[in-house]
Amino acid sequence: MSKGLEDVVAGPSAITFIDGARGRLSYRGYDIGDLAARSNYEEVAYLLWNEGLPSPGEFESFVKDLGSRRPLPAGVRLSLDSLSRDCDTMDAVEMAVAALGIYDGPYMSMVDRAASIASKVGSIVAYIHQHKHLLPHLEPRKDLGFAANLLYMLNGEEPDEDSVRLMDVLLVLHADHELNASTFTARVVASTLSDMYSCVTAAVAALKGPLHGGANEEVVAMVEEVRSPDRVEPYLLDKLARKEKVMGFGHRIYKGNDPRAVIIRGFAGEIARTEEQRKNLAILDGLAAAMIRERGIYPNLDFYSGFVLHHLGIPTYLFTPIFAVGRTPGWLAHVMEQYSNNRIIRPLAEYVGPRETTYVPMDERHRGSTR
Ligand code: SDX
Repeated sequence: MSKGLEDVVAGPSAITFIDGARGRLSYRGYDIGDLAARSNYEEVAYLLWNEGLPSPGEFESFVKDLGSRRPLPAGVRLSLDSLSRDCDTMDAVEMAVAALGIYDGPYMSMVDRAASIASKVGSIVAYIHQHKHLLPHLEPRKDLGFAANLLYMLNGEEPDEDSVRLMDVLLVLHADHELNASTFTARVVASTLSDMYSCVTAAVAALKGPLHGGANEEVVAMVEEVRSPDRVEPYLLDKLARKEKVMGFGHRIYKGNDPRAVIIRGFAGEIARTEEQRKNLAILDGLAAAMIRERGIYPNLDFYSGFVLHHLGIPTYLFTPIFAVGRTPGWLAHVMEQYSNNRIIRPLAEYVGPRETTYVPMDERHRGSTR
């Protein structure tokens, strides 16, 4: 038995390849470095769903189709309006995705459903933000790309090109990562032939956990706790001495650098212009150097992403929902792949409980416990 299914190959997939020893990652064979440098959210979503890059004509109609699907059904908006403004944002995303399945109705093709879910998850996160702060509900803009529209709906103004580029890079880097916990969750649900909305709702629930997608918010809290670069060493050594997990570090597959963390760190260095940003980046870099030195454990995707998200004006409580927005195309690609070559996922447990126990009638049991 392998605890946490470590090193267990659960099945074939042609979507994403991770070389943990060499710190390499590729989607449908395209290296993540190339995609981060040259692609965007829409093109990567197309790639993940269609096994190849789109022609100019295919790309144009795909972008147009996604853009047309952003508006939320009135029923989903009403469901979100019914929530308390201080509710957990990932709970709200989970609820809205499940509700979407009710309002998208029964007569849609699988690819149209994928396009609807991916397009609307961005609008759901923006709507939750607007609801939380009693902001006007901005309608999604079809004339903007996915990343630009997401920033527009979150910040209330059309973003500049550099911000759109940064958002696209983050969405590309979050798009897929083979059988991580939330994607495997989506595939288990798909293997029962449940619907796509239920698969994504379950994936959102899995991503919420701090050992998976929730760490990006914890990293920002950690930087605030450290406060200054000269407190990094004692802070980290104390955490390790208490055998605490340091959020944003470690990975089941990467034994050295997570290539996504390296790419995001590159952008963080370019945008760190204020004194506060330079101080926070120095704290992050100090924590990374100390963790690598002390434990040989490297930053993962969640370590630097919050620094860039804050630069884009995104509040901390939206970090994990934004992770969900980025990962939705990957979840959907795996759901469709599971449907295409399916067998219900049903592993075994190693039984470690009692055997051959005799039933004791209630009137013969002691007042205390029978165990
Ligand atoms: C992502 O799976 C994916 O692909 C995930 C992801 C994706 O794109 O979907 O890449 C997303 O990477 C973000 C992960 C965000 N989570 C965190 O940053 C939480 C902190 N990280 C750890 O909890 C841990 O590293 C995991 C969950 C990421 C990986 O867990 P594993 O593979 O089960 O590793 P483990 O907990 O068994 O740790 C092995 C050893 C332990 O030491 P020992 O008990 O053997 O002495 O390494 C230590 C751990 O204590 N360790 C850490 C640590 N991570 C591992 N010690 C301190 N801080 C850490 N962060």
